[in-house]
Amino acid sequence: MTPLIEVRGLTMRYPIQGGFMDGVLPGRRRTLTALDGVDLDIAPGEIFSLVGESGSGKTTLGRALLRLVEPTSGEVRFRGEDVLSMGPARLRAARRDLQMVFQDPWSSLNPRLTVGQILGEVLHVHDIARGAAAKARVRELLDLVGLPPEAADRYPRHFSGGQRQRIGIARALAVDPEIIVADEPVSAVDVSVQAQIMNLLLDLRERLGLTLLMIAHDLSVVRYVSDRVAVMYLGRIVENAPAAEIFANPRHPYTRGLMAAAPRTRPNARRDSAAIIGEPPSPLSPPPGCAFNPRCGFADNGCRERPPPLEDLGGTHQVRCFKHASVGDPALASS
Ligand SMILES: Nc1ncnc2c1ncn2[C@@H]1O[C@H](COP(=O)(O)OP(=O)(O)OP(=O)(O)O)[C@@H](O)[C@H]1O
Ligand SMILES: [Mg+2]
Repeated sequence: MTPLIEVRGLTMRYPIQGGFMDGVLPGRRRTLTALDGVDLDIAPGEIFSLVGESGSGKTTLGRALLRLVEPTSGEVRFRGEDVLSMGPARLRAARRDLQMVFQDPWSSLNPRLTVGQILGEVLHVHDIARGAAAKARVRELLDLVGLPPEAADRYPRHFSGGQRQRIGIARALAVDPEIIVADEPVSAVDVSVQAQIMNLLLDLRERLGLTLLMIAHDLSVVRYVSDRVAVMYLGRIVENAPAAEIFANPRHPYTRGLMAAAPRTRPNARRDSAAIIGEPPSPLSPPPGCAFNPRCGFADNGCRERPPPLEDLGGTHQVRCFKHASVGDPALASS
């Protein structure tokens, strides 16, 4: 099947004005590489999860797909069409099909507007509905995300974090998109509410035939909803596989580390020796070789000399690690 989204070699470098604080000489211009040659395909109807620590480039990737930031180089195709060369009118139309639910449900809703006005504004701007038709559509959208019709007359401050996230989802759905980029849809809500929001997204996929790019810090959050999982580290995809495969057979030490860091369902279960140590390096001065090597229990001199290529392990499982065979060997991996 033709992918709905195809990303090739996507690279985003931000110019940084130096300052003492970040160890860069003041006044000297540096670049920060937020995305470094990212490749991925998202199939229609798929829930594709992008996972990684803070600063790994997840939001930048989501925004670059919609050209909310202009990538430095690479390709983004939407239904085969080159997004990066679209003119303003075509891009506006494409953005209706590709909606983003923003990371922060608190700051992304205008506090001075009622929920009805927030949703009505989207319908108006995109020339979808006005007057009574818009009111009816607002009720329909609230119902889709599990909020009562009275929610339309209230202000964002009257809602809990989980309910605000539902409002953000309703706003994205207002234009009837094909794909939603959900940027950490549950990171700001209580654990008890996380499953409800994830179930809502699953339900919307079924009912509306949506495709979802789900961004998360935590593998455990996306475990039961994803069709495919890609793991990012310092702007690169280090592992990408069908969800069942990546959980059963993780082959990058970082993926294993993220799994070990996930909350345990059995508190007495043996902690995985792969738990990640330390903080990620600064993207302004990544270490030579594999960017994960300073934190990796498998690293040797080769890993410090050159970066590993993305290798295909078959069955659409890809990994960027010289040591993937050792990582996958149970005798070596659980020592
Ligand atoms: N406008 C910008 N100018 C300079 N650097 C930026 C800018 N936006 C992001 N960055 C840097 O790019 C890197 C990736 O940031 P990004 O927000 O994409 O990460 P993330 O994976 O979404 O992190 P989080 O989990 O904290 O949301 C970070 O080092 C960040 O500091
Ligand atoms: Mg982010």
